[in-house]
Amino acid sequence: MSIKILFVCLGNICRSPMGQGMMKKITQEHPHIQVESAGTGAYHIGNLPDPRMIATAAKHGIELTSRARQFQSKDLTEYDYIIAMDKSNRKNIIGLSTDPNDRHKVFLMRDFDDDFPSQDVPDPYHGGPDDFEHVYQIIERSCQSFYKYLLAQ
Ligand code: 4NP
Repeated sequence: MSIKILFVCLGNICRSPMGQGMMKKITQEHPHIQVESAGTGAYHIGNLPDPRMIATAAKHGIELTSRARQFQSKDLTEYDYIIAMDKSNRKNIIGLSTDPNDRHKVFLMRDFDDDFPSQDVPDPYHGGPDDFEHVYQIIERSCQSFYKYLLAQ
């Protein structure tokens, strides 16, 4: 049975493409696990990830090739796990849900961060290279732990 995972941030050009790329790498031997991403905002629809996120991912051997799309209400039905990068994203996602049962599918990325649980993945858009590297480290740690969680289900 397939498992569908959707990473969600605001612009869908920095944090959620990084989550998508990281989780695809971690699950590459498991083609039944499908990984995608979306943004709650519409600013960057159709765009590739931010060049700074692409560069940071490439430094760690991960290629980011997604195109930004906006999160839609029906994604709550279509995906099994919806991973929000921050609490504002989570609020916007839950605000679009029509079936209260679907809300149990919505997690924060850092619900899976063993070091600093339940915090936001900081938005690096107005930051510098160190901020992008910090986002990478958080997402790597959290996705490894999320993968262990999936295996335990
Ligand atoms: P993301 O970062 O949500 O991690 O993709 C952002 C990208 C763009 C904007 C905000 C956050 N923006 O306001 O354009």
